[in-house]
Amino acid sequence: MSVAAPDSKKRTPAELARRKSGAPIVALTAYSAAMARTLDPIADLLLVGDSLGMVVYGFDSTLPVTLEMMIAHGAAAVRGATRACVIVDMPFGTYQESPAQAFKNAARIMAETGCAGIKIEGGEAMADTVRFLVERGIPVLGHIGLQPQSVNVIGGFRAQGRNEAEADRVMADARAIAKAGAFAIVIEGTNEPVARRVTEAIPVPTIGIGASPACDGQILVTEDLVGLSDGHKPRFVKRYAELNQAVAAAAAAYAEDVRTRAFPGPEHCYGPSTIERSPKPTASQRR
Ligand code: KIV
Repeated sequence: MSVAAPDSKKRTPAELARRKSGAPIVALTAYSAAMARTLDPIADLLLVGDSLGMVVYGFDSTLPVTLEMMIAHGAAAVRGATRACVIVDMPFGTYQESPAQAFKNAARIMAETGCAGIKIEGGEAMADTVRFLVERGIPVLGHIGLQPQSVNVIGGFRAQGRNEAEADRVMADARAIAKAGAFAIVIEGTNEPVARRVTEAIPVPTIGIGASPACDGQILVTEDLVGLSDGHKPRFVKRYAELNQAVAAAAAAYAEDVRTRAFPGPEHCYGPSTIERSPKPTASQRR
């Protein structure tokens, strides 16, 4: 297995689909143009996840997220990315009713954001919808295992596949979504034996979150990775930075400078000498 260095080649759903057992897929979330611009040279896939409802908007689940929110954040992320494959999540209630409803809303997301494809949660029950979208030109990233939009049915954010029946369910979901044409599948919150079995059984890449190194790639919420989300750190998150602390320290230093009038200094002020004026005409020009 090669550990290819990032290159400038544009990432597409078709290219990522070919990464099965190749270089692991590096995926992160991005909800803004600024974050997408920062991550674009590094990540293969940028997901505008509906996790933004919890991370950005402070909801306690992803359920209140609207199509309009996803389109606004999706379009911003697409403006910030030139190389990574940008995928936008479909929010709860915008695709579960019927394949036709899913196509109408997915087409709107694609047209209004310029993203490369969409992600929907669900296994066997969503297979017909995945097929319907793919056959009509919409690349689909699947999402099985722990599905946060079904939190009220599964009884909380709990790992899936811990007993044989659940493990069989994850496997059946993976097979159905892969067969329906998804270019890759996110597996959330399951253990290594299940993730390994699924990854070995299906022909498209698996992208894990809390699903062990057995997957073909990994995804994390960027704010979790850099310490910008709330205090709770799920077990599967590795923190690579503590930006909340860095932001608080910078803001405290600014507050101190404002209170002591150390900021703004002369170098931050416009002076008369910096105001551009048209040069005065010389004596000869006046004549
Ligand atoms: O909404 C999201 O960000 C996601 C990922 C964490 C997989 O679905």
